[in-house]
Amino acid sequence: MTFNIGLVGCGGMGRRHAHGYIELRKYFDTVSMSAVCDVHPDVASAVAGEIGAATGVTPEIYTDFGDMLSNCDLDGVAIVTSTPMHHRFATQAMEAGLHVISEKPMGLTLKACRQMRDVSVATGKVLAVAENYRRDPMNRLTKALITNGAIGTPYFAIDIGVGSSNGAVMHSTVWRAKKEQAGGMPLDAGVHNADMLLYLMGPVGSVFAETSIFEPNRTLLPMNQVAPGLAAMYDHRKEEGYTTGDEVEQTAVDTAFGVIRFKSGAIGQLVMTDTSHGQALGVSTISGSKGTLYRPQSRSGQSPRIVTNDGNEVTGDALLDLVPEFVLDKTTSTLWDGARRISSYDMDFRLIDSKILAYEYMDMVQAAESGGQPEVGPEEGMEALALAYALFESGVRSEPVNVRDITDGSISSYQDEIDIQMGI
Ligand SMILES: NC(=O)c1ccc[n+]([C@@H]2O[C@H](COP(=O)([O-])OP(=O)(O)OC[C@H]3O[C@@H](n4cnc5c(N)ncnc54)[C@H](O)[C@@H]3O)[C@@H](O)[C@H]2O)c1
Repeated sequence: MTFNIGLVGCGGMGRRHAHGYIELRKYFDTVSMSAVCDVHPDVASAVAGEIGAATGVTPEIYTDFGDMLSNCDLDGVAIVTSTPMHHRFATQAMEAGLHVISEKPMGLTLKACRQMRDVSVATGKVLAVAENYRRDPMNRLTKALITNGAIGTPYFAIDIGVGSSNGAVMHSTVWRAKKEQAGGMPLDAGVHNADMLLYLMGPVGSVFAETSIFEPNRTLLPMNQVAPGLAAMYDHRKEEGYTTGDEVEQTAVDTAFGVIRFKSGAIGQLVMTDTSHGQALGVSTISGSKGTLYRPQSRSGQSPRIVTNDGNEVTGDALLDLVPEFVLDKTTSTLWDGARRISSYDMDFRLIDSKILAYEYMDMVQAAESGGQPEVGPEEGMEALALAYALFESGVRSEPVNVRDITDGSISSYQDEIDIQMGI
């Protein structure tokens, strides 16, 4: 039986989903992508054309999500639109009897996510979140090392993502500059960091953060100047109402410095900004009672590294001795050409990205077919979003917040305005 998926949102990430599907088809013939949808027909058509050229079957093209649902015999949809549409399309699809995989963040606010979760529970349809970082085999290895006590008891995690858009609009996508459409960079990008911290360190109790909008006046510059590594993925997308060189007001928080207390008692530091000039800094470490683990950049293929008290460094295949039970799951192993126990791998970013997306689709399809839950479902998607929003909510209140209060909606000051804009 073939599981038939329709893709909505064919911009930069939508194109990467198409590449993920093309990669998936090299290994599995039980999934098909028979329709794609974008409000811009030429954007949808560019992505459909790439799928057709690579797989021999060109998906049907739609410009209206409802039309795609009514006219196609779909089993599931992949939602890759800009974030404010995630909850609307997800609930519409599940109520029409389809399973869903939604890009991260699961929804734009916790209120939107709670609606999505409730519809998933009521309809029994899978709601998977395409949270990609944790699926990287090197992050699987990192998790196994921590779980196996390779650094002892984790004391603290440092996660610093200090980069610069150099005064430009992030990813040349105007919606990312707008609070009511993206929340802010520490959320849009930081939800990945949040998910990884939760994956590796366990649940969070409270967060204190300071936040700011340091660069409210931004310029729309071409993607090859802003993020050259991803420019090829975005060269077909359309930015309605703006042209290159336009000034754009940044209304979304662009900087957050947070301190986290995990329920285990460990402490975390999460710093996210795209306003640093003259300095880029990426630090991802976890320190424990026996040593410090240096996390490789997700999707780099590089090995984690552990440094112990005596300065001894363990990396590469020597790490595998610390995790004798570590083995990649069957789907990852298939996509990584049969690899079972690896401590690094050598592939370019685009291929790694595609393999991880292929994995995410298989995870959703397997959950749908088995009646189980995907690895990252509504609860995990909401937990990561709540941690990211805890930064903003604490920033608004100038006091620590309990993440549980963000998840259940008791604290929502930063999000209220966004919910009003979304009409929920
Ligand atoms: N997992 C990751 O690493 C990752 C990376 C980038 C983006 N994302 C997520 O993917 C989503 C899309 O981001 P992007 O960078 O591709 O943005 P984008 O602006 O390039 O693409 C969004 C596309 O959605 C289309 N769209 C908007 N409203 C629509 C509607 N009502 N019906 C049909 N199509 C509609 C737009 O025309 C556009 O082509 C966001 O939620 C973002 O957070 C995830």
